[in-house]
Amino acid sequence: MVVYKIYALFLAIIALSDAAPPVPAPPSSGVKGAYWPSWLAQTLPPSSIPTSYFTHLFYAFVLPDATTYQLLITQPDDEWMRNFTVTLHAKNPPAKVLLSIGGAGGSPNIFSNLVSNSDNRAAFISSSIDVARKYGFDGLDLDWEFPSNPQDMSNLALLYQEWRSAVNQEALASSKPRLLLSSAVHFSSNFFSSSDVPRTYPGDAIRNYVDFVNPMCFDYHGAWDTSVTGAHALLFDKSSNVSTSYGISTWKGDGVPSKKIVMGMPVYGRTWQLKDPSEHGIGSPAVGTGPGNLGVMIYTDILGFNSLNNATVVFDNATVSTYSYAGTNWIGYDDTISIQAKIKFAKAQGLGGYFFWALGYDSNWTIARAGIIHFSLQRDNIMCLPYMCKAGRTDPA
Ligand SMILES: *[C@@H]1O[C@H](CO)[C@@H](O)[C@H](O)[C@H]1NC(C)=O
Ligand SMILES: *[C@@H]1O[C@H](CO)[C@@H](O)[C@H](O)[C@H]1NC(C)=O
Ligand SMILES: *[C@@H]1O[C@H](CO)[C@@H](O)[C@H](O)[C@H]1NC(C)=O
Ligand SMILES: *[C@@H]1O[C@H](CO)[C@@H](O)[C@H](O)[C@H]1NC(C)=O
Ligand SMILES: *[C@@H]1O[C@H](CO)[C@@H](O)[C@H](O)[C@H]1NC(C)=O
Repeated sequence: MVVYKIYALFLAIIALSDAAPPVPAPPSSGVKGAYWPSWLAQTLPPSSIPTSYFTHLFYAFVLPDATTYQLLITQPDDEWMRNFTVTLHAKNPPAKVLLSIGGAGGSPNIFSNLVSNSDNRAAFISSSIDVARKYGFDGLDLDWEFPSNPQDMSNLALLYQEWRSAVNQEALASSKPRLLLSSAVHFSSNFFSSSDVPRTYPGDAIRNYVDFVNPMCFDYHGAWDTSVTGAHALLFDKSSNVSTSYGISTWKGDGVPSKKIVMGMPVYGRTWQLKDPSEHGIGSPAVGTGPGNLGVMIYTDILGFNSLNNATVVFDNATVSTYSYAGTNWIGYDDTISIQAKIKFAKAQGLGGYFFWALGYDSNWTIARAGIIHFSLQRDNIMCLPYMCKAGRTDPA
């Protein structure tokens, strides 16, 4: 059994905020975000995104150059970035648009070098602001997967501080609204599994300099362990800390205000091949990945698979996750029921909102629609089901 250890939080030494304009209040309705995979532009053009479901849309992704640390803008980026910002600003309602830098395809070493000295940070910061303004973005999002040691984390704190100072100054100089700064981050603020170098995100710098963080609360289980089935984005796990409720609690424990925590949810599932079709729960013996692309299936394809194969669909109350099975095929995912329950949890925890990975994986926007209905409720109306309340203290209003 893998033993997870929690290490004491280390205190990043952060200077107090320099004279900064007051932080603009987040929209009262909260962040309802989603990442747009720009490689889907031909089938999912910005004009097809219904902004009634989203307040913040992230252009995924651009990367920094490995030696100059300036953003690399490819020809398709040059074409689509402006289309993205202009189209989504012109919609009713308009959405805020952020440029996301990094992603799973980005090299962690480039980011590590980028944050390691002040010249590199300055080159990156200046290029990111120039690009954001040139193409009309409202903000910048850093998705470094992942800082790999405590030194990276303390350098990341410096980047956040200098980046915020630069966007403040630029806003004063240009008389434009300040660029937002956000960051897609690990599901928990600390890395605690036995295979990890223990490290903790700089909560103080995030609180002082970043508008919000997007913990990626998914991929807890997958093709890297085919011995048992897993709910890859479960809210609660009685037997381990690899869960969304635990991850959110670590962000709060790290000093990040609840309103700056934007909870991630997947619009895709992860699949297994059951060893015995009669054992089909979460944690049942498996022998490999199931249907889909290397054990991954997007939501719209899961619905198609379930229907074609007359799969049995189960909402698992204890973990707050959904799975389906047909024969030896098993898929763990989120459907509208688990999404709604997670969003109630996010509201009860006083979080700043939620985001989806990714646009284009939904089936006729049913997941997006389920999300917005529930997050728009007043907190007083949120029923706190037993399995939601046991996760811990609910923040005072
Ligand atoms: C965005 O691209 C689409 C499809 O190519 C095009 O129809 C539309 O006019 C473009 N919009 C803007 C604002 O550039
Ligand atoms: C989960 O984390 C808590 C501390 O946050 C620790 O006390 C507990 O032992 C951990 N549980 C597991 C199963 O590792
Ligand atoms: C679909 O599965 C259910 C049980 O889950 C079964 O009762 C039903 O007969 C099946 N229908 C078809 C068409 O296979
Ligand atoms: C998609 O959703 C809309 C809005 O609920 C609905 O009117 C439409 O019929 C749906 N289309 C399909 C193909 O299910
Ligand atoms: C959900 O689980 C909780 C405890 O984990 C239990 O009290 C509750 O009755 C369950 N609800 C349903 C509908 O099974």
